[in-house]
Amino acid sequence: MTAYLDNNILKLLAAAKKKGYTLKNTMETPTEREARKQQEEQEITKALIEGRNNAYWEQYSLWANGKPEGEFTFYNWVPDKQQDVTAAKKVARQALDLTKRLTKETFNVTLSGLPGVGKTALALAMSDRLRQAGKSVMFVSTAELKHLYSTGYDDDEQKRLLKFTVEKMKEVDVLILDDFGTEGDMNAQGKVRVRSDMRDDMYRVSNARLEKITIITTNNTLKELNTMYDPKTIDRLIPKSDGYRIVFRDMKSVRRREI
Ligand SMILES: Nc1ncnc2c1ncn2[C@@H]1O[C@H](COP(=O)(O)OP(=O)(O)O)[C@@H](O)[C@H]1O
Ligand SMILES: [Mg+2]
Repeated sequence: MTAYLDNNILKLLAAAKKKGYTLKNTMETPTEREARKQQEEQEITKALIEGRNNAYWEQYSLWANGKPEGEFTFYNWVPDKQQDVTAAKKVARQALDLTKRLTKETFNVTLSGLPGVGKTALALAMSDRLRQAGKSVMFVSTAELKHLYSTGYDDDEQKRLLKFTVEKMKEVDVLILDDFGTEGDMNAQGKVRVRSDMRDDMYRVSNARLEKITIITTNNTLKELNTMYDPKTIDRLIPKSDGYRIVFRDMKSVRRREI
């Protein structure tokens, strides 16, 4: 009888183990109990951080044409798409090297060049790496952000979303400002300026991010950006050193022409 029972228990245990269940040791010592509680706490903290990081990317980001399907990683970068293959390899190399440093250091990076050369693609590849390294990353299309200022003017829901977005832009570890400069409008004097409410907010954002990472894609020159925004904002956002500026020189658009 005993042997029969033991066998059954063993079978049950084997089946439970197969399903991934583990038996809790009911005779746990106080030290073991403390260790288990600590591990559980660590797991909860890790899950909370992961959840928070995901929210920045999945919910708080502002995409120009909706969130892209799938991820763009450094493996998806095809230098042969450019006539100047060496130049295409060079920008990706620089982006990858800087990304590796950004897992340990804090500085801003710009990716500048004509439309369609792959600036956003490489910014997405950088985001992918930095998210994997445990950083919270938020993608903000500045054109979409500008749109929120217009719609938020007489729509309270949009106004709340705008306020929330700006707060998150101040807090996130890594902020991607995509197509920075496209939000400018020609004023009566023929100068391109960014609307004043957005300009003021961007100054506050740049101030809050002095110890954080901001990655900017743009096809505007520094001079143009300084006209559009308060130069203090640009001074805080655009890195001084050439090493942190990725320039897509002599590269052509690879974007398929819309039919
Ligand atoms: N070297 C490349 N390898 C693979 N895909 C590329 C490359 N360059 C650009 N693309 C793709 O071409 C399209 C346009 O690039 P994008 O990054 O949007 O350009 P930009 O931001 O400079 O205007 C995107 O779909 C992007 O993924
Ligand atoms: Mg782009």
